Amino acid sequence: MTNKEKSAELVNKYVHVFSCPICKSPMEVTHLKSLVCLNNHTFDFAKQGYVNMLTHAAHSHYDKQLFTARREIILKSGLYTFLHEKISEVINDALSAAKDEIMIVDAGCGEGSHLQRILDECENVRITGIGLDISKEGIRMAASNYKESIWLVGDLANSPLADQSCHFILNILSPANYKKFKRVLVPNGFVIKVVPRTHYLKELREAIFDGKDKKVYKNDETISLFKQHFHLADMINLSYTRELNHKELTNLVQMSPLAWNSSKNDINRIINQGISEVTVDLDILIGINKQIKGGEE
Ligand SMILES: C[S@@+](CC[C@H](N)C(=O)[O-])C[C@H]1O[C@@H](n2cnc3c(N)ncnc32)[C@H](O)[C@@H]1O
Ligand SMILES: [Zn+2]
Repeated sequence: MTNKEKSAELVNKYVHVFSCPICKSPMEVTHLKSLVCLNNHTFDFAKQGYVNMLTHAAHSHYDKQLFTARREIILKSGLYTFLHEKISEVINDALSAAKDEIMIVDAGCGEGSHLQRILDECENVRITGIGLDISKEGIRMAASNYKESIWLVGDLANSPLADQSCHFILNILSPANYKKFKRVLVPNGFVIKVVPRTHYLKELREAIFDGKDKKVYKNDETISLFKQHFHLADMINLSYTRELNHKELTNLVQMSPLAWNSSKNDINRIINQGISEVTVDLDILIGINKQIKGGEE
């Protein structure tokens, strides 16, 4: 059986979770080749096993080099190990009594390593991961590396997932669409959103902007908007500093949108001058999908 057919079988098992991004009707898998809706809108499985369900062309700044660097950092540097452990703890606690099939969507999953690492730490064997990202490059890499989850190219503003079909939405350092998250979540389902705090990667920021960036990043507005949509059950702050070797520093510079406007020379300067340690400073917001009085629907 090819990778494509294996993925099609996995999607077929959970096909009730899908809804056509064009007409919203239910879908089915045909000939282990395509996802097709009642109105015949057809989305083919790619050879790596993902499905492109975008209804419009999308341009992304995020390219293969950036995703390769993110993958290296996530898998090999251990920079995000605490984050994975904390998130899986939250999931394990919430699921201690659950017996049904559990769907976890990573909205804006990039190349998929966060989702994979988190699932690795989860104790519940009835969990299935779905990674959704608008970047084909990211999803292609995810599908090539991680065969046990479902990988979809899609826009979180118009996701191919059915109403009340998922139990957890992860949203890690990515944009959100809370209205759509609420549609897809079961009642009392969880959103686990990771947002940077003031000192996140501050050594990298200082090196890139050469000390000239005086803006202080605060996440108060992000948290306040989150609270308008979800009941904030908990907020976990993760702050720590890690040493970096030369290879890790190169990947860190390449994985970050912070360096998008820097020239090659500047990037080489940062890598050569060296940053010996880097700060991770994140908030994990844990929201529950409850009807909130006064909250926008
Ligand atoms: C900073 S990256 C984070 C990726 C991943 N969560 C990680 O931490 O490695 C932001 C991601 O959001 C994705 N993204 C941006 N807008 C999106 C949208 N409308 N729908 C789905 N994904 C989107 C990008 O393609 C990118 O992969
Ligand atoms: Zn359709």
